[in-house]
Amino acid sequence: MGEIDESFIQSIEHRPKSTTVEAEGIPVIDLSAPNSQDLVVQVGDACKNWGFFQVINHWVPSSCREKVELASRAFFQQPSLEKRKVRRDEANPMGFYDTEHTKNVRDWKQVFDFTVENPTVVPASHEPDDVELQEIVSQWPEYPPNFREACEEYAREIEKLAYKLLELISLSLGLPAEKFNGFFKNQTSFMRLNYYPICPILHLALGVGRHKDSGALTVLAQDDVGGLEVKRKSDGEWVQVRPTPNAYIINVGDVIQVWSNDRYESVEHRVMVNSERERFSIPFFFNPSHNVMVEPLKELTSKQNPARYKPYNWGKFHTTRNISNFKKLNVENIQIYHFRI
Ligand code: OGA
Ligand code: NI
Repeated sequence: MGEIDESFIQSIEHRPKSTTVEAEGIPVIDLSAPNSQDLVVQVGDACKNWGFFQVINHWVPSSCREKVELASRAFFQQPSLEKRKVRRDEANPMGFYDTEHTKNVRDWKQVFDFTVENPTVVPASHEPDDVELQEIVSQWPEYPPNFREACEEYAREIEKLAYKLLELISLSLGLPAEKFNGFFKNQTSFMRLNYYPICPILHLALGVGRHKDSGALTVLAQDDVGGLEVKRKSDGEWVQVRPTPNAYIINVGDVIQVWSNDRYESVEHRVMVNSERERFSIPFFFNPSHNVMVEPLKELTSKQNPARYKPYNWGKFHTTRNISNFKKLNVENIQIYHFRI
């Protein structure tokens, strides 16, 4: 990524500030708390007021996380030529790539993506009338030798945590615990290893530009470097999510915003670059099956509170979003507000 390419430069209003706000941070929730009703209330409040929270005492073994973190470092340390052997392309959206764009500005990062289900079934194209499907299978590098095993073991653990959180969220909306589970049969979830190299143009670029996550729920592991910022709902200020050892950062995505008919909003976030230390993070994007029509739940709408969104097909939405990130189309990305009533 050595050369400084104009495509990385953020427009002035979106450039990172030189001071960061660390005042009131996102809530920290202890999942081992003995009072389950209290836990549900805490999760509900965090989703409503922040859209983001951290969890501790979550039962994901730290050895499992350490193993995938080491494997990720080893993979990204390789020369680009090696990494490109498992490069993402138009045929396979999983694998390595280093030219992702968020809102048409290039992100200062490299990623490796793999699916949680192998194979994962998705639409063959974004064309609305094309009903053909396609199976995606992750590609795996030869080095480091335990890479695939570390990734797959970690994904299984995080998936368990994601279901647990989904159930807490469902309860917090006054719904049965397993209300959402059926949407995730044949899920299109994927895991991403993020590598943010040291960046010499600190005040011009971002690791990931401001965005909302389009899926249901994100479970993120960040290392001790820091750089993730969340747009605080109360005042629109960008606040740092201070690294907490062994915690996971959870945020609701656009799909939960629609299911909950805006009770829980998907919140903007971004990643700052760092001129001294490289940074690693691992988000798990918990996504429904391709054939799910995303729409406000009947239980959460009423005459006084009618549905605010038209139904949209998750698979087509996601496929459309993916190609525009990949190709840097000069049009705005598809967004849930396009389905607003
Ligand atoms: C993302 C994201 C945050 C991070 O990949 O969608 O928001 O800390 N990542 O890497
Ligand atoms: Ni994100």
